Amino acid sequence: MSTSHDGTLLDVRGLTVRFPTSDGVVQAVSDVSFSLSRGETLGVVGESGSGKSVSNLAIMGLLNRQRTAISGQVEFMGRDLLTLPPDDLRHIRGKDIAMVFQDPFACLHPMYRVGAQIAEAVTAHQDVSKDAAWARAVELLDHVGIPNAKSRARDYPHQFSGGMRQRAMIAMALVHNPSILICDEPTTALDVTVQAQIIELIEEVKREFDIGVILVTHDLGVVAETANAVMVMYAGRIMEYGPARQIFEQPQHPYTWGLLDSMPSIERRLTALVPIEGSPPSLLAPPPGCPFHPRCRYRFEPCPVDRPPLVSPLPEAHPDACHLAWDEKVREGAKRSVTRLGDAA
Ligand SMILES: Nc1ncnc2c1ncn2[C@@H]1O[C@H](COP(=O)(O)OP(=O)(O)OP(=O)(O)O)[C@@H](O)[C@H]1O
Ligand SMILES: [Mg+2]
Repeated sequence: MSTSHDGTLLDVRGLTVRFPTSDGVVQAVSDVSFSLSRGETLGVVGESGSGKSVSNLAIMGLLNRQRTAISGQVEFMGRDLLTLPPDDLRHIRGKDIAMVFQDPFACLHPMYRVGAQIAEAVTAHQDVSKDAAWARAVELLDHVGIPNAKSRARDYPHQFSGGMRQRAMIAMALVHNPSILICDEPTTALDVTVQAQIIELIEEVKREFDIGVILVTHDLGVVAETANAVMVMYAGRIMEYGPARQIFEQPQHPYTWGLLDSMPSIERRLTALVPIEGSPPSLLAPPPGCPFHPRCRYRFEPCPVDRPPLVSPLPEAHPDACHLAWDEKVREGAKRSVTRLGDAA
């Protein structure tokens, strides 16, 4: 299937990632499928260790192919990135698909000026003069809201605030006009006000450059403000996936309910914050049946035995992986219903 005609940028099918280790095989990502279109923000949420980063690293081709067993398809503009020769992949990575990480210090070298690092990213894929690359770096820094970009480009990373460093990372990601921007916890290290500014910047960049954004976060509140689609992951699997409006108005999976009940940032109808008890399972030996069943308040007979497939309970609903009866999903989901900014209109 060609994906370039209908606005679909990325079509991921059955992505599975296993790490063989001395303790056994870690099932980091199991059978993950989703797609991303231009102008779309896909929010990927789930607790620590749910496979969010590994999924994106697999898509970016950043996992060591020798030490990782990856299967499935990652179709980008009609080409399967998982089978692409490394040289072709290198051409796409950082150019057509760019990534912004949680920790800008992991990507910005402390000893080089911010502008120089962006200029170097320019010359990595483009045959332009040093002056032109520098001018482009300044232009991009200005574009992402760095004041006095011309002089600030000469600063070293430690002279930037956390929010400015994250802006610089976004500038670096935009160097080659990518079609997809993958942001992995872009605001986790920032305070709340700056967080909101960075999320707003990502949205502006998405509209302006007409790109698709994958926004990875453990915070459903961040996703509630921006995402068009939401994928909820747990233990390397998709628990629930659908249009953001549906996920927030009628969440169908007990794990999503647990996340919503425990999020201070969500406009809530239930008053008390209730954390999800227990912790995610080891992916060396995930529990049989539904991986969430040991922590699930709604579990019943089939849950420890049969793994629920990711299917849509009704045509008008979105897919979830849960055995509960539909009327219970509706009833319990309605208690967590969140009206997002703009949805009321
Ligand atoms: N190279 C590796 N070798 C073995 N296991 C790994 C490796 N990389 C990741 N894992 C495991 O894969 C699982 C998924 O990790 P991943 O980093 O994708 O989680 P995450 O959802 O991004 O979590 P966080 O919110 O903490 O960033 C974890 O159990 C992690 O320990
Ligand atoms: Mg991660």
